[in-house]
Amino acid sequence: MVSYKDLGLVNTRDMFAKAIKGGYAIPAFNFNNMEQMQAIIQACVEASSPVILQVSAGARKYANQTLLRYMAQGAVEYAKELGKNIPIVLHLDHGNSFELCKSCIDMGFSSVMIDGSHLPYDENVALTKQVVEYAHQHDVTVEGELGVLAGVEDEVSAEHHTYTDPADVIDFVQKTGVDSLAISIGTSHGANKFKPEQCTRNAEGILVPPELRFDILAEIEKKLPGFPIVLHGSSSVPQEYVKIINTHGGALKDAVGIPEEQLRKAAKSAVCKINIDSDGRLAMTAAVRKIFVDQPAEFDPRKYLGPARDELKKLYKHKCESVLGSAGKA
Ligand code: G3H
Ligand code: 13P
Ligand code: ZN
Repeated sequence: MVSYKDLGLVNTRDMFAKAIKGGYAIPAFNFNNMEQMQAIIQACVEASSPVILQVSAGARKYANQTLLRYMAQGAVEYAKELGKNIPIVLHLDHGNSFELCKSCIDMGFSSVMIDGSHLPYDENVALTKQVVEYAHQHDVTVEGELGVLAGVEDEVSAEHHTYTDPADVIDFVQKTGVDSLAISIGTSHGANKFKPEQCTRNAEGILVPPELRFDILAEIEKKLPGFPIVLHGSSSVPQEYVKIINTHGGALKDAVGIPEEQLRKAAKSAVCKINIDSDGRLAMTAAVRKIFVDQPAEFDPRKYLGPARDELKKLYKHKCESVLGSAGKA
């Protein structure tokens, strides 16, 4: 049993309380490898932003949970070495069982998500409550989810959104004791968040998605004043990256994300954690594809992963400074 406190990590409690009061959101960036982790820490140290490092089930399979935990521990020291002891949370993204959440808590995670959103309501409540009871014994914070995002979430996929029903949120929070709640108001995972037929096209032919359901968010806030709300699937899918990818051998069709303006608006509300993974994948892929085309003789991985890391850092810094408002809050 390793406590996250001994690793220099923090849970989300204080972070979220400050974010709600201050009208900003904490970035929750997924990482699977060293370059992503370095970019996240460099960006958040330079922006002086608190940060949540997220580990998904896919990341655990790809990189190994133990290695990722040691990397997060390293991230705390790395941030200090770069000159700023920013608050860092190590969070399990989309935990799907009590056993998995327990194993992460026991090995030093400071926060876990138990995602029972695909289960019938009562089963979601029971599973979430079981995780909360164990997590709180170790002062680890828990994120639950109500409502289903459209698209693919790990192995589960849903054709349509099931928006969170504001009528359920008080009961869910009271029965489970969760510390934060992920909701479904129109975001979804991946780089194709909307079907072209759901969007309009602007003068340049770029797809413009429908607005998020801010009315549902407002109703939830009214029911749970001051309670931390989480948005998954919040990548914006920058079209400059899509263009670089597609002009350098890629084939991304109809890629469209959540406009940053809408995320700025959400960050000012009770939304205090915004999950971003796909934008990082796009930034890395664009940088690597460009180098492979422009410098075909290059074969030292540092020569393409280094620039990819620089591009990622630029993206993460931009999110903290110009979208989530978390810069300067560490
Ligand atoms: O919620 C999904 C995240 O983007 C993680 O995706 O399971 O492919 O690592 P992944
Ligand atoms: P994106 O696919 O929009 O980056 O969402 C990531 C996410 O929600 C991770 O849990
Ligand atoms: Zn998610």
